[in-house]
Amino acid sequence: MTSEDAKKKIEKLKGEIRFHDRRYYVDANPELPDSEYDKLMKELEGLEKLFPELVTPDSPTQRVGGEPLKEFKTVTHKIPMLSLDNCYSAGELIAFDERAFKTLKEKPEYIVEPKIDGLAVCLFYEQGVLRQGSTRGDGIKGDDISGNLRTLKSIPLNISFTGKLEVRGEVYIPREEFLKLNREKEEKGEEEFANPRNAAAGSLKLLDAREAAKRPLDILLHTLGAVQQDIWKTHEQTLLELEKLGFKAVKPYKLCKNILEVINYVNSWEHKRDSLPYEIDGMVVKINSYEYQKILGTTNKSPRFAIAYKFKARQALTKLKKITLQVGRTGIITPVAELEPVFLSGSTISRCTLHNEDEIKRKDIREGDAVVIEKGGEVIPKVVSSVVSKRTGREKEFRMPGTCPVCSSQIVRLDGEVAWRCQNVACPAQVEGRIEHFTLRCAMNLDGFGPAIIRQLIENKMLKDYADLYTLKKEELEKLERLGEKSAANLIAAVENSKKNTLARLLFALGISDVGEHTAEILTTKYENIEQFTGASMEELQAIKGVGPKVAESIVNFFKQKGNIAAIKKLKKAGVNTDRTEEERMLSSGEGRFKNKSFVFTGELETMTRDEAEFEVKKMSGSASGSVSRKTDYVVAGPGAGSKLKKAKEFGVKVLTEKEFKELLK
Ligand code: IVH
Repeated sequence: MTSEDAKKKIEKLKGEIRFHDRRYYVDANPELPDSEYDKLMKELEGLEKLFPELVTPDSPTQRVGGEPLKEFKTVTHKIPMLSLDNCYSAGELIAFDERAFKTLKEKPEYIVEPKIDGLAVCLFYEQGVLRQGSTRGDGIKGDDISGNLRTLKSIPLNISFTGKLEVRGEVYIPREEFLKLNREKEEKGEEEFANPRNAAAGSLKLLDAREAAKRPLDILLHTLGAVQQDIWKTHEQTLLELEKLGFKAVKPYKLCKNILEVINYVNSWEHKRDSLPYEIDGMVVKINSYEYQKILGTTNKSPRFAIAYKFKARQALTKLKKITLQVGRTGIITPVAELEPVFLSGSTISRCTLHNEDEIKRKDIREGDAVVIEKGGEVIPKVVSSVVSKRTGREKEFRMPGTCPVCSSQIVRLDGEVAWRCQNVACPAQVEGRIEHFTLRCAMNLDGFGPAIIRQLIENKMLKDYADLYTLKKEELEKLERLGEKSAANLIAAVENSKKNTLARLLFALGISDVGEHTAEILTTKYENIEQFTGASMEELQAIKGVGPKVAESIVNFFKQKGNIAAIKKLKKAGVNTDRTEEERMLSSGEGRFKNKSFVFTGELETMTRDEAEFEVKKMSGSASGSVSRKTDYVVAGPGAGSKLKKAKEFGVKVLTEKEFKELLK
């Protein structure tokens, strides 16, 4: 192939890939299966390898950068990246509208859009090519994070726009992706991110773009930066034109004719905020006309033509009375903040985890401190910081004791770990934790066995380990305090039912360190019964995709312990299934009932989480996707379903209610 031919082919491939990137990442409406897309990418990579002189910075192959940086270069913003004034009430919005009226002599129209809780970034394009991407920094100077921003597939590297264009927006991690990221961190024993915003900030600041590329970052644009001349007349026009250029612009938004419409709209979102896939902390109210925006101008801190209406705080101030220690099923000792109860977005919080000793030191949290606690979306509450200015001098620094608070045996902190552990497997807290874990809905699903009953059974010497659950007798249970004949019968029935559970459930229920639900499923695609696990070697386990050295080591160590083998024998003897079920066998062979069938879930599900629903589909060899295409087989739509449902109808894709979906599962 001549260089000329290669150039033509490369241009063609780049155009096709850009088109499909847009369909997938911006429009959420892919046209090609992933395998076909990968082929295009491979072909482009191959050609660029043969003709390296033809590689351009806007090639889709350049999204993942080269060597890690030592530090970021500093960028001075062409025009400052200001912040917004905040307000918290309808009255303040009315006052804002009146101020604008005083200058404009006319009542303006507004665009109201979500205030995304992410990080502001600036993207600079010249002759249609993304030249630079930067953080907001202090508003005047930021960091050049071009390499990291290039890895976001929803940022076009190339747009059909001549001249210079600067656009600004918010980089964020969608809530579900954030939860997934933290689950992975938890499974790897790494420190979790406190909230999606911190996760996004940490990801943008990674000096290695290849690592940043692995983070589920996304962007929504909300403003124009420096532009050569007035290109568009209103903010709404900007949002629409940016979409046409291939960007993702902030949405949903509403054009409001007056401030009363604005107030109604912001109020309606206060209750619906969790239905958006990303965290928002309020709504931004912007005067739509650029002419009016110009007349009103800015202060050196913020524009006079826009204001942020902040939702009620999900942070609260309270007192940390004491730090106690909780011993988990694997012996990990977690410090817990005992708080003066405080009401925060829907519930009263009196305790929350402090994660580990290092975290307490890093945040300088002391007993007796006034502390700020936070609760975001589905994220569990946490202590954000201590308020040093409120200290009286009577606060007590935290020190980890040398012994387990429950069984008094020595505790250790293993190399490379943040956690202290009690190493006594017979520690009552560990025993209780293991049994509790075993009974969880996502484990053996022993309905009715809550923590209180488990403790009661341990205290009455009826349970020493989880295998003892299978030797419980109805007559003995009936005699226990607060347990009547009916409850006892229910407990026995739950135990009986659990005997038929899948091998993956059992494996997860055993409580092997680092083996989460997902890992347990991966493992059962490889092994047919529990006995095969007991003999598995480190090498063999590590050869399984998705099983790393830490997981492999935990499994081998678990099955080395005689007590664990004895418990498994007891389970087997009691009739608990220890083999792969028919369903699991089909899953591992990809021959389930939903083979080649793709599902998209949209709107709210009422009886299960989206993760659970997708899991059900995957269990039957189907696939679940985030966007509807002509090839989608089923769209399961719940309340609040929007554009995906519309698309399904447009494409003639079968739409199911949650109830119908559950029927299908049967
Ligand atoms: S407009 C002059 N629109 O909020 C500032 N900002 O507190 C123009 N933000 O730094 C910003 N969502 O990072 C605008 N829809 C939105 C936004 C938004 C989030 C952030 C932005 C800004 C901060 C100001």
